[in-house]
Parts: sequence; structure tokens; C-alpha cells
Amino acid sequence: MYENLIVETTNRVLWITVNRPDKLNALSSKVIAEIGAALDEGEKDSRVGAIALIGAGEKAFVAGADISELNTLDAAGGKRFSEAGQRVFDRIETCGKVVIAAINGFCLGGGCELAMSAHIRIAVPTAKFGQPEVNLGLIPGAGGTQRLTRLVGRGRALELILSGATIDAAEAWRIGLINHIATPTEGQTPVAALRAAVESLATMVASKGPVAVRYAIEAVVSGSEQSQADGLRLEATLFGLCFATEDMKEGTSAFKDKRKPAFKGR
Ligand code: COA
Repeated sequence: MYENLIVETTNRVLWITVNRPDKLNALSSKVIAEIGAALDEGEKDSRVGAIALIGAGEKAFVAGADISELNTLDAAGGKRFSEAGQRVFDRIETCGKVVIAAINGFCLGGGCELAMSAHIRIAVPTAKFGQPEVNLGLIPGAGGTQRLTRLVGRGRALELILSGATIDAAEAWRIGLINHIATPTEGQTPVAALRAAVESLATMVASKGPVAVRYAIEAVVSGSEQSQADGLRLEATLFGLCFATEDMKEGTSAFKDKRKPAFKGR
């Protein structure tokens, strides 16, 4: 179905694998459009409880926008490329199901921007992060100047963006760019450890009330873009809406009855 993706569901987790390992999974316009389509598919499918993004192979999550394609663009084409990336990455950030980036190697430029649009980031210990666009005479164009700043603060974002420097997973964790580093146990490959860590968190979130998960994402993502007073109003509205769901009645009743809730997503 997809030219550049492998899309498969295991244990209610939709895995979207960017599948261009010979180009370190670089994001062409086609790849970006396909990620948007796969995300839509996952968001609509009630059998899917969570979405994970990963790169094919052992070397890269995504090593950036496709530099060969960028090389052919004029100013209008560059703006369109940026806007198309921003649109898809915004959809990831506002997706009503949790999206986790499973970072299995180089996470550079558009790859770092893709990972930052996910709700949670988990990486292998050898992953490398950076916004190297200035090395190409460019600036980040798929949300990097905004999301990196919000995640790690203006000073650290400016240092990474202006230097084009690459940092390792330990440093990315230290500055808050990633949530966890998946450490392999003996005999386990780094990618297997990463997949297991992502699957475990994704299935845990997928077992919660789906409407509550959707509202929680909206309250945090949309609320953090507003003043605290507006964010609190949004929180109260969404909190109130939870009371109109069967899931809220089920969750609170199950607690009282000392049993596991059976959420229906309504
Ligand atoms: N766009 C297009 N192709 C890319 C790419 C990108 N962002 N990143 C890597 N590739 C391609 C390489 O051109 C190469 O293709 P080839 O075998 O046809 O020549 C292949 O992927 C393997 O990459 P290579 O550079 O040989 O691997 P390496 O291990 O020596 O270096 C990197 C790995 C990540 C350090 C290096 O590929 C790199 O700097 N990539 C660009 C990173 C970047 O600037 N991203 C931001 C783009 S806006």
C-alpha cells in the first residue's frame, strides 16, 4: 500500500516504519505524505490504541529531510515543503491516540522534528540527535525552531540549531529532548529493547479510557500553547466532558467494585 512505509499492528499498537534504509530513512515529500496517511488510518481504526514511529534498519530513525529533493527546490517550493511537513507533524502532535517515537539511530533535522512532534520519545543508547540544517545553509523547517525551543528551552535550542552539533542519547535525555533510553538486557539487541520499551508503554496507554487519553492530549498540547488561564478553562471543559462518557462511569464504578474497567471509548 505504501511505497516508503511498513505499517503493521501488534497488540493494538500501529507501528509506522519509515522504510528507506539505504537513504537513512530521509523524508521526501512522498514519505511525509505517506506518514500523514498512515496516521489518519491509525487514528480512525478502533482496533488501534496507540501509534509508534520507527526507522527501518539498525542505523537511523530518520536522518533528515531528503537533501536531494531540497537541492531541486526554489523559494516557493521550499515554503511548500516546509508547510507540508508542518501540517503532517501538527497532525501527529494533535493525534487523539498516543504517538511514541522509537528512535533507533540517527535522529537529525526533519527526523528530530518528526520525533519532537510525537507525544513521547524513547531511544536506543547509541542514537544521535541534532538540527544540522545550518550546515546546508538552511534552518529547520518542519517545526524544529518551535518544538525544540518548547522542549529544551531557548538557550539550548539556539545552541543546537546554530551549531548544527550532534548530541548523544545521554545528553538528549539530560536536556529533556527524550523521555527514556531503552537499555538492552544481556543478549537483547538495542532495537529489540527499544521496541519492547515502546510497546510496553504504548499498550499501557492503550488500556486506559480512550476518550480520557484524547482529552488529556488535547489539554496538554493545546493548553500549553495558551495562557495558563485559557489552558485551565480548556482543562475544566474537557474534565466536564468526561462526565458525559460511559467510560468515566465505568472507570469510577470499576474502582468501587474493585475490578478492572472495560472501557468502550465512548
Ligand atoms: N537526505 C538524503 N539522503 C541522505 C540523507 C538525507 N538527509 N542522509 C543520508 N542520506 C543518504 C546518503 O546520501 C547516502 O546515500 P548514498 O549511499 O546513495 O550516497 C546514504 O544515505 C547513507 O548515508 P552516509 O552519509 O553514507 O552515511 P554515514 O554513516 O557516512 O553518515 C550521517 C551518516 C547521518 C552523518 C550523514 O548521512 C548525514 O550527515 N546525513 C545528513 C544529515 C542532515 O543534514 N540532515 C538534515 C537534512 S535537512
